[in-house]
Parts: sequence; structure tokens; C-alpha cells
Amino acid sequence: MHILLTGGTGLIGRSLCGSFLADGHRVTVLSRRPQQVPALCGAKVRGVETLTELNDDAPDAVINLAGAPIADKRWSSARKGELWASRVTLTEQLVAWLGTLPRKPSVLISGSAVGWYGNTGSTIIDETHPGKAGYTHTLCDAWETAAQRAAAHGIRVCQVRTGLVLAPDGGFLQKMLLPFRMGLGGPIGSGRQYMPWVHLHDEVGIIRHLLTHEQCRGPFNSTAPNPVTNREFARELGRALHRPALLPLPSAALKLGLGEMAELLLGGQNAVPRKALESGYTFRFTELEPALNDVLDSKH
Ligand SMILES: NC(=O)c1ccc[n+]([C@@H]2O[C@H](COP(=O)([O-])OP(=O)(O)OC[C@H]3O[C@@H](n4cnc5c(N)ncnc54)[C@H](OP(=O)(O)O)[C@@H]3O)[C@@H](O)[C@H]2O)c1
Repeated sequence: MHILLTGGTGLIGRSLCGSFLADGHRVTVLSRRPQQVPALCGAKVRGVETLTELNDDAPDAVINLAGAPIADKRWSSARKGELWASRVTLTEQLVAWLGTLPRKPSVLISGSAVGWYGNTGSTIIDETHPGKAGYTHTLCDAWETAAQRAAAHGIRVCQVRTGLVLAPDGGFLQKMLLPFRMGLGGPIGSGRQYMPWVHLHDEVGIIRHLLTHEQCRGPFNSTAPNPVTNREFARELGRALHRPALLPLPSAALKLGLGEMAELLLGGQNAVPRKALESGYTFRFTELEPALNDVLDSKH
């Protein structure tokens, strides 16, 4: 199969490329830095800068993960423009291009995030939840809607509402490690907000599952079946690193430092992967402790 990825050079994308190559698939990555694609994604992966380079080599499946990192910079209006263009506008362009192809791919698996639900407190939520208003809901909803338009071209569409990906290198855990290693870690705000985590192995596993299970359509939570509160997460991380994790980070300080973006850390979702489980996906990591130990043990 010929698989096209956007965002293929990222944390999730690189891991997906490796697994597709191991299966003997042909992989192309749309990137702003196509020359670096073979080094980042695998020597056999082709990098392209524009979709039209593939007009005569249409993919059989598309995985759309591109997006400027949501938690890297304060959400100024310029930054919000970047977050939007790199997800919503890019997805609109991708779907418009798919519409021009004489032979369409069978499936588009497109990125989204648990932020689609907004801050939903401790209520257990699955894909039937209507979502709550807020910046991440607006952004993710427009991203999902843009992808869904590919269905009009006869393409099966799935949106992956990804939780916090636990990976040995990169991602949100990387940012938490330094303070925790220094013994300065602890709960954020009240610590009662939920953190729907997912191990990178299962994030890749769920995307691969969606690729091959033709009955799967629409949004899927990619989150482990047992989300934990921020307080529990801090305790487990402290335990895994053999460090105390008692120093709370007050919400007022966070709001002062991060502005509107503080909602990413102070809010959360008690999200469960109902559709992934119902469609037969088996998680390798269902509990936080072994998942954390696994990524910390395999850190490079
Ligand atoms: N990791 C998580 O915990 C998590 C959680 C929820 C949702 N997600 C979503 O899942 C997707 C993949 O996540 P990830 O962690 O693998 O992301 P990542 O490591 O940050 O990589 C995202 C990729 O998007 C492309 N990109 C970045 N800025 C861009 C811009 N301004 N314009 C166009 N493309 C840009 C880059 O590709 P090039 O440099 O090659 O162009 C980059 O490799 C993201 O959209 C993210 O929002 C991730």
C-alpha cells in the first residue's frame, strides 16, 4: 500500500513511518523540509513539499497529522493563526487535492485531540459527548470538519482524538521530566483535572487499527482506558523517578505565565476509548504505571 502522511516527521508520524516500512508499505511524507524526511522517517521514505508532486502517484491511504505544536508558545492571535493554518487550512487543501485525483485513496485518518471536548471535569466521556465551547474545541472541530468533507469524495474518514502521548523522546512528558527530576514536580492547580494519556505504542496501534478496519468511521478517542487525575499522574511520575512530587503549581501562577494556554494544564477530560474498544482494538498499556516505566526505561 502507498501511504501518504502529513506531519510524518513528528513524534507520532515518525513512529508510524517505522511501523509501515516494517510491514513493507511505501510511505510518502508531505513536509516543509522534504530533504530531511529520509533521515527523520526512514531512508526509504519519500519527502514531498507539495501535494501536486503526487498527482501521478496517488496514495491508497492518507494520515493527516500536521500541526504547529499547541503548547509551545502563548496563544497570541498570530500563534492562533499558525495553529489554524497548519491544521484547518492544510486539511482543506489536502481534501481539495484528494477531490482532484482520478483514483481516490480509500481512507483518510486525520488528527484531532481530546481538547475537542473542552474542559469536561470528572464526568466520564466517550465519543458521544457533544463537547464544550472553548478555544481547543473550536480549533479541533474545524479540523475534524475539514477532514470529514473527504467523505463527499467517497473516502472513509476517521478522526483521532488523541490524548497526551507518552513517548520515550519528545512530547509533553519530556517537558515534565526536568522539574520532576529536580524534585520540584507536583500537582498542577487543584490536581483534580483528568489527564487522558496514551502510550505511543497504542497511539500508533489505534491509527493502524483504523486504517485496516473498514467499519471504523468518524471520531475515535485515542486514550488509554484508565485515565488518571493530574494529582495521580504527578504521584506516579514521582514514584517512577524516585523523587518527591509534592510541590503544587498554583493555578494563578500558571495563568499569569501562560495566559489562555493555561487551560491546557488546568482543564482536562476523563475520556475513555469506547469506539476503539468496541471495534476490537486491544491496548498494550491500560495502566499508567507500566506505561510510564516502559517509556522511562526506553529513553535514549
Ligand atoms: N503528541 C501529543 O501528545 C498529541 C496529543 C493530542 C493531539 N496531537 C496532535 O497530533 C498531531 C501529531 O502530533 P505529534 O506530537 O506527532 O506532533 P509534532 O511532533 O509536533 O509534529 C507535527 C508535525 O507537523 C508539522 N508542522 C509543525 N508546524 C507546522 C506548521 N506551522 N505548518 C505546517 N506543518 C507544521 C511538522 O512537519 P514538517 O516539519 O515536516 O513540516 C511536524 O513534524 C499534531 O497535530 C498534534 O496536535 C498530539
